[in-house]
Amino acid sequence: MLPTDTQKIALVTGAAGVTGLEICKFLAEDGYTVFMADIVREELERKCLSVGANAHPVVIDISNPAQVVEACRNIKNEYGSISVLVNNAGILSNNKVIETSLEEWRRILSVNLDGAYLLSRQCLADMKTMRWGRIVNMCSMAMKTGGLTAGTAYTTSKGGLGALTFSLAREFASFGVTVNGISPAYIKTPMVTELLSREQQSRLLEQIPVGRFCEPAEVANVVRFLISPLSGFITGEIIDINGGLHMD
Ligand SMILES: NC(=O)c1ccc[n+]([C@@H]2O[C@H](COP(=O)([O-])OP(=O)(O)OC[C@H]3O[C@@H](n4cnc5c(N)ncnc54)[C@H](O)[C@@H]3O)[C@@H](O)[C@H]2O)c1
Repeated sequence: MLPTDTQKIALVTGAAGVTGLEICKFLAEDGYTVFMADIVREELERKCLSVGANAHPVVIDISNPAQVVEACRNIKNEYGSISVLVNNAGILSNNKVIETSLEEWRRILSVNLDGAYLLSRQCLADMKTMRWGRIVNMCSMAMKTGGLTAGTAYTTSKGGLGALTFSLAREFASFGVTVNGISPAYIKTPMVTELLSREQQSRLLEQIPVGRFCEPAEVANVVRFLISPLSGFITGEIIDINGGLHMD
């Protein structure tokens, strides 16, 4: 169970995005003070208001080490230690390797992988001291399938995020800290509705056994479960949520 002296303070990245917002709503409902981190100020502030009084905007670029350190320090000084971290922010590229420039490769890895590493590094020392903590990393089915529509840099970044999940889970398991991942596919967000052509979307719908795309709340609900005190024996797990498209 959550130790009585551990505060319910959560940091969610990519919180102005579709999935991030749903996660923040659940956390606020569950009594967390939610720090909503994103790079887009106006949209973040608007979404933050929609979550309620227990939500606070944190405008940062998660790939920037100094911004990450400062944001986490400010939260700790004003509110207390972060006990839940959801590394949800991510950027997509559908370019395959030959079309992927080194610049693009580095940009994708710096947000999708460095960001999660920087934030985890910032939060884990306090989680270890509190002997309770939860980290959830938003991976992707792409890491298991080689990327059906996703590009090489994105697929690699999510594979790295999966390996980071395993590494942190093993290191911190004996301190009451769990580190898990979620591996979604084709959530109803702009990554699907805007970045894939109508033809690609129709072809995918024919292939997904449940015959539809994933609702953002369905992903957020898995996060909600993974951070709950009852999931304390699950760590180093990456939960698939893909409508049966990939089974392993
Ligand atoms: N949409 C899907 O089908 C799908 C499938 C598998 C995995 N995912 C993963 O789920 C997560 C959420 O995806 P979504 O579809 O809700 O995306 P989204 O584009 O709606 O949200 C992503 C958010 O991340 C923010 N962001 C981007 N770069 C940032 C940075 N440097 N610093 C801080 N914030 C930054 C964006 O501003 C955006 O608000 C991502 O990690 C994505 O890779 C999505």
